[in-house]
Amino acid sequence: MEIGVVGLGRVGRALVTMLAHRGTKVRLYNRTEVRAHEMAEIAGGSVAASPAELARECDVVCVCLAGWEATRTTYLEKGGLLEGAGQGRLFIDMGTLEPAQARELHGHVNAKGHRFL
Ligand SMILES: NC(=O)c1ccc[n+]([C@@H]2O[C@H](COP(=O)([O-])OP(=O)(O)OC[C@H]3O[C@@H](n4cnc5c(N)ncnc54)[C@H](OP(=O)(O)O)[C@@H]3O)[C@@H](O)[C@H]2O)c1
Repeated sequence: MEIGVVGLGRVGRALVTMLAHRGTKVRLYNRTEVRAHEMAEIAGGSVAASPAELARECDVVCVCLAGWEATRTTYLEKGGLLEGAGQGRLFIDMGTLEPAQARELHGHVNAKGHRFL
């Protein structure tokens, strides 16, 4: 299983470090690409060119972004997670969201046949 991590701030980096210590294969995406390459060097793993590419290849996608607009567009925009996702993905969103925002994402994700936590 390959786990994708989108957003390599404090939360994303801690998650990638933990996964790498456990020997899990990880694929990384970050808006500021240089941070993804730095993390790939430290913890191993490979860098995806877009959220869509990451979700095409990873069974589980962990999203660790700051802010609703950043989160929403990363799922929904062109080149975003839902455009690229292969079949039956599990999205685990670790960001701080309002309940209504989480429900909105849940609706979009479920409508495409994926699961959302
Ligand atoms: N689940 C938990 O236990 C837990 C604990 C603490 C925090 N959180 C939540 O986790 C989320 C991330 O926290 P953090 O401390 O890791 O934040 P952070 O260190 O500020 O990192 C923010 C991340 O979001 C990305 N980002 C910000 N604006 C963006 C935009 N407009 N488009 C695309 N990417 C954008 C940043 O990318 P760049 O590198 O390109 O700027 C970076 O990867 C927050 O919602 C926070 O409340 C959760």
